[in-house]
Amino acid sequence: MTEQKIHFDDGAAYERVMGVWSRLAGATFLDWLAPARDLSWVDVGCGNGAFTELIVERCGPVRVHGIDPSEAQLVFARQRNTSGVVDFQTGDALALPFTDSSLDAAIMALVIFFVPEPAKGVAEMVRVVKPGGLVAAYAWDIPGAGLPYELIVTELRALGVTVPMPPSPSASLLPNLRQLWTGAGVDAVELLEITVQRTFADFEDFWDTTQLAFSKTFATMVPHDVDLVKAKARTGLPPDDDGRITYSARANAIKGRVR
Ligand SMILES: C[S@@+](CC[C@H](N)C(=O)[O-])C[C@H]1O[C@@H](n2cnc3c(N)ncnc32)[C@H](O)[C@@H]1O
Repeated sequence: MTEQKIHFDDGAAYERVMGVWSRLAGATFLDWLAPARDLSWVDVGCGNGAFTELIVERCGPVRVHGIDPSEAQLVFARQRNTSGVVDFQTGDALALPFTDSSLDAAIMALVIFFVPEPAKGVAEMVRVVKPGGLVAAYAWDIPGAGLPYELIVTELRALGVTVPMPPSPSASLLPNLRQLWTGAGVDAVELLEITVQRTFADFEDFWDTTQLAFSKTFATMVPHDVDLVKAKARTGLPPDDDGRITYSARANAIKGRVR
């Protein structure tokens, strides 16, 4: 099986596969941050803007800069209703396009495990935030089986299929997050586990979303094996009385203040 990388090249597909999940966890995360209004933010790895929009809806920011390497995702993000408060630009977590101490808050939503050098990514967030400002993130607990669609990952692995993973999965573990933040000179560090549930209209709704999420992996498999994964998923996800499927995922979150 050829090694595959995760590509973010379709904002609409991302919205259905992950954007909905991101906002579910993001709402709890922002309640926990309880930020002041009128802050200037950078949303590092903003992707298609799913979480950026939530910052605008819930936090009354004066400005949000969305940064992501994928222009295809940003095209989708720019169509969101973010009321002129947001700008989206291509960029990398390892070299943020802002001067030192120029912003009030820097966050990463589901991004830290995609950064090839997580410590450098955190150092960049700290560099651009003013003393006393907020540096925070949440990320699926990948090593702790917290990913949405974990059941599918398990079944694929049981068939010997290599499932593409981000380059720094262990960065999302609570002790590693703490070490990243304290190592970058962040004070008042606090951690939180966030469990979210997403309900699909029925099993086919869940499966259609799963097919979008794993389209590149399924394309490398014989149809019989894909059918096997589907059958296992159906058994593992009994519907409620209305035919709906409810599925959980778990993220780890961290926040702190720049010294
Ligand atoms: C799972 S998505 C999260 C998107 C968005 N923050 C959300 O919550 O829906 C991960 C994002 O990280 C971006 N990404 C990957 N490597 C990155 C890097 N080195 N710097 C900044 N963003 C990166 C990807 O392009 C993708 O949009």
